[in-house]
Amino acid sequence: MVKLGVNIDHIASIRQSRFTKYPDPVKAAASCEKGGADGITIHLREDRRHIQDADCILLRKKIKTKLNLEMSLNPGIISFAKKLRPDDVCIVPEKRKELTTEGGLNVFKYEKTLLKVIPALHKNGIRVSIFIEPNEKNIVLSKKLGADCVELHTGKYAVSRGEAKRKELLRIKSVSKKVLDLGLILNAGHGLHYGNTLKIAQIPGMNELNIGHSIIARAVFVGLEEAVREMKKLLV
Ligand code: PXP
Repeated sequence: MVKLGVNIDHIASIRQSRFTKYPDPVKAAASCEKGGADGITIHLREDRRHIQDADCILLRKKIKTKLNLEMSLNPGIISFAKKLRPDDVCIVPEKRKELTTEGGLNVFKYEKTLLKVIPALHKNGIRVSIFIEPNEKNIVLSKKLGADCVELHTGKYAVSRGEAKRKELLRIKSVSKKVLDLGLILNAGHGLHYGNTLKIAQIPGMNELNIGHSIIARAVFVGLEEAVREMKKLLV
């Protein structure tokens, strides 16, 4: 069964929009776990627009499943991650002005930095994933750099239509095979919702999907626990 990591950043986005104490990401994580989430995903952004450092520390203590910290290669955030010791770190690119992560990490550009950061995270018992555009060159280099997992960016698949969507799905399927052949763990995410997740979940060897926006949006109508349960049912 494909695992579901629920990204709860948008719970914190609602809170930060008024600087209130609610809604509480720790309570949200507990509801996600009750609904069947296999893990909780958070993105500590450089501008701290949603998740705060204190949320990470509390979540690390309180969650019962596993914590996946999405983060950029910002040195301050890397130091924080080493102390926090989440189960997983997923390295993502980050631009201040973007609404959400806009693409995969340019592993070629950051090769030297990754060669230092990945072993440093490993030393602290953290499993390392890299969020990449689904192409073979990125996968081969991620393996060479010592990553344990890759998370394939499904954003293009999510927003395209018709023939373009069909082609993107084929591309994701074929590179997924390469991920497994190289012995990497296969994860995917971004832009997945109740209508487009099944085909990604059905890719042989898929380990985990990280899904946020659509689940939090559905929670407005059915509650968070049920929204997670509904998504989880799609992954059987
Ligand atoms: N995976 C990664 C690496 C991400 O950056 C995000 C967005 O924070 C997600 C998954 C979840 O994307 P969405 O909110 O579109 O489901």
